[in-house]
Amino acid sequence: PDYDLSIRGGTVVTASDTVRADVGIRNGRIVAVADRIEGAAKSIDATGLLVMPGGIDSHVHLAQPTFGGPKMSDGFETGTRAAIAGGTTTVLPFAMQPRGAGLRAVVNDYHKEADGKSYCDYGFHLIITNPSPSVLGQELPALVEDGYTSFKVFMTYDDMVLNDRELLEVFECARGCRALVMVHAEGYDAIKFMTERLEQAGKTAPYYHGVSRPEIVEREAAHRAISHAQLLDVPIMIVHVSGREAMEQIRWAQGRGLKVYGETCPQYIALTADDMKGLNMDDSGGKYVCSPPPRDHASQEAIWQGISAGVFQTFSSDHCPFMDGVDGKRSPKARTSFKWVPNGIPGVETRMAVLWGLGVAQGRIGMNEFVALTSTNHAKMYGLYPKKGSIAPGFDADIVIWDPNRKETIRQELMHGACDYTPYEGLAVTGWPVMTIVKGKLACEDGKILGSPGDGTFLKRGISPYASK
Ligand code: URP
Ligand code: ZN
Ligand code: ZN
Ligand code: ZN
Repeated sequence: PDYDLSIRGGTVVTASDTVRADVGIRNGRIVAVADRIEGAAKSIDATGLLVMPGGIDSHVHLAQPTFGGPKMSDGFETGTRAAIAGGTTTVLPFAMQPRGAGLRAVVNDYHKEADGKSYCDYGFHLIITNPSPSVLGQELPALVEDGYTSFKVFMTYDDMVLNDRELLEVFECARGCRALVMVHAEGYDAIKFMTERLEQAGKTAPYYHGVSRPEIVEREAAHRAISHAQLLDVPIMIVHVSGREAMEQIRWAQGRGLKVYGETCPQYIALTADDMKGLNMDDSGGKYVCSPPPRDHASQEAIWQGISAGVFQTFSSDHCPFMDGVDGKRSPKARTSFKWVPNGIPGVETRMAVLWGLGVAQGRIGMNEFVALTSTNHAKMYGLYPKKGSIAPGFDADIVIWDPNRKETIRQELMHGACDYTPYEGLAVTGWPVMTIVKGKLACEDGKILGSPGDGTFLKRGISPYASK
């Protein structure tokens, strides 16, 4: 046979086109897109279904240590199993440098966690917490050469925050080695101040996590990061934008021609602060705690405006899973204050269904925009294009077959990760992934996992075309 696999009768949807076409696959890659493809060893009938590039989730945390806090519930095996079940076929987690550690050793440790254990391909961003001269001068340039072509820096969190000088040093390094810098924009001092005042007033319930870091704090940090980036003429990506304030900073920068990019996430269109209101630790109040926190309905509308206006290039999960139980969100320490509730929520499996359900199915965005936001733009932004992110000859055969009419209610019993809850429990959506193909192999069908840990391999990424020239 000419093909190992064909997908017949479906409608191919890419970031630019919607066409009725069959897809022919050989040796794990797409080799033909045509009216009719015959002569395949195996064929999938996609009549009435959409054939789209598999999702690329460029912001997930897997097997990341938490400085004495509870362990993340997903490593690479369960995290990528959840990914493929949700239609995502590439993940970009973080290799985090603990303060004082060398980066190369850290990267090697993450490879031990990931290699041979992943259901889909993966690459790593580098979290830089200690920009020492040897890290900036030797380690980072060498790591960029080796395919770790993006960094993340934090403007908050005791164990990760960089001061302004350190931010500038990392930006300067990124410009030199043409890495793209992702910025967690929330202001450390303001959050610390607000947290202390809330605690003094006895306001320690999970709801106050959001009150301790309002949108103003995110806006201030976004503006400061943009200013530093402009000073050094270096592009940046502001990640997990939660509402109007930070979105408008990015839009303002883009309007001035600055290379400032934006990412938003499911929690900012599907959750609000009210979801936590009145909940204490016994009724799982901690399970929505993430940073930046979900805001209000007006913020959700602002996020949709940012999506429609092209302010945001990527829609990522920021999957950062902790159990709801005593080994996670409800740890004894976390019960004393929101300050100790581990930040982050699961979402790698539900990301695409949430955006389709609230976006495409409700007429807020089109199908091609959906593909751009969940796949193509991630590949372009992070040096994976034209290997990943579209359906055309030459691309890896990473494909999700989507049923736009299937109605589901998101619930924990459908999930495939190791976390014990989904923050989207009860959300009714129309549109669902029914088959996921990883490099030409049917890896998940109707929630049944057919792939294996080890199907996925490390992606040595190229320089981002959006990074410094
Ligand atoms: O609360 C969150 N999002 N935790 C994950 C770490 C991060 O800042 O992305
Ligand atoms: Zn972050
Ligand atoms: Zn609501
Ligand atoms: Zn994150």
